[in-house]
Amino acid sequence: MKNATLHQLKVFAVAARHLSFTRAAEELFLTQPTVSMQMKQLTKAVGLPLFEQIGKRLYLTDAGKHLATTCQRIFSELSEFESVVADLKGLKQGQLEIAAVSTTKYFLPRIIGPFCQRYPGVDIALQFTNHEHILNALLENQYDIYILSLPPDSPEVVTLQIMENPLVAIAPREHALAGQVKVPLERLAQEPFIMREVGSGTRRAIEELFSERGLEISVRLELGSNEAIKQAIVGGLGVSVLSKHTLALEKEDGPLVVLDVESLPIQRHWYAIYPAGKQPTIVAKTFLEFLESDTLEPLSKAIPLIDEA
Ligand code: PGA
Repeated sequence: MKNATLHQLKVFAVAARHLSFTRAAEELFLTQPTVSMQMKQLTKAVGLPLFEQIGKRLYLTDAGKHLATTCQRIFSELSEFESVVADLKGLKQGQLEIAAVSTTKYFLPRIIGPFCQRYPGVDIALQFTNHEHILNALLENQYDIYILSLPPDSPEVVTLQIMENPLVAIAPREHALAGQVKVPLERLAQEPFIMREVGSGTRRAIEELFSERGLEISVRLELGSNEAIKQAIVGGLGVSVLSKHTLALEKEDGPLVVLDVESLPIQRHWYAIYPAGKQPTIVAKTFLEFLESDTLEPLSKAIPLIDEA
């Protein structure tokens, strides 16, 4: 078979399907003598006749039948290879649109960085917004992947747990509760609070915990950004409960401390989710695999989290 060409095999496969050189020629836009010539050369390469003519009809010989099955396998393998190549090409040119809750801005770029290094052709559009807006965007199918805590508990959504998201009480270093052990939640509730805006997942988690315990929070200030809340804490306006990730770049001896409060941290996780009915693009699938891979653990461990004061 060394001298057989892929083109000859293709012509043979069509002629074997039609059991007619004339119809094969029509399908392949070739002349009938060209098909005959190709089959003659292929027969020579095989060393056995592939067709036999009985009366006016053409039949496959045993060798012809075997070659027809072999051709099916070869062409199906080739078409699978073509789709892999198409995927790889798509990956190189792909766009990935991610919507993520605002708190993830403290760690998500550190994950996306190595992903983009590995797949330099992927363009990522990353939109940060709050929990409620993410859920609306999910309903409207606006992005490829959504990253948040507390995903909707629904079979309509595919969820992938990525890493921990502990919510901790944060106060200024000189605060009276700093350094105390197992401060009761009731005691924390007496402090003026700086809260995220309505619609924030962080806010919802805090409200749930305090209301379960029958405690009221006295909100002194409401701010739509974790960074602004941290500045307000440093400014002595109150305390807050935020994701520990918001402290990623804070120094151990910086102006903020994590309080040791009973019932805290609120143990949550980050999830990547997408609608179950949506077929993720190749790029989205690759990103989800990246999140599931061994790469993520060392990355998430490298994200600095300061300890309790
Ligand atoms: P948020 O979400 O940024 O909307 O507060 C964070 C979270 O759900 O933990």
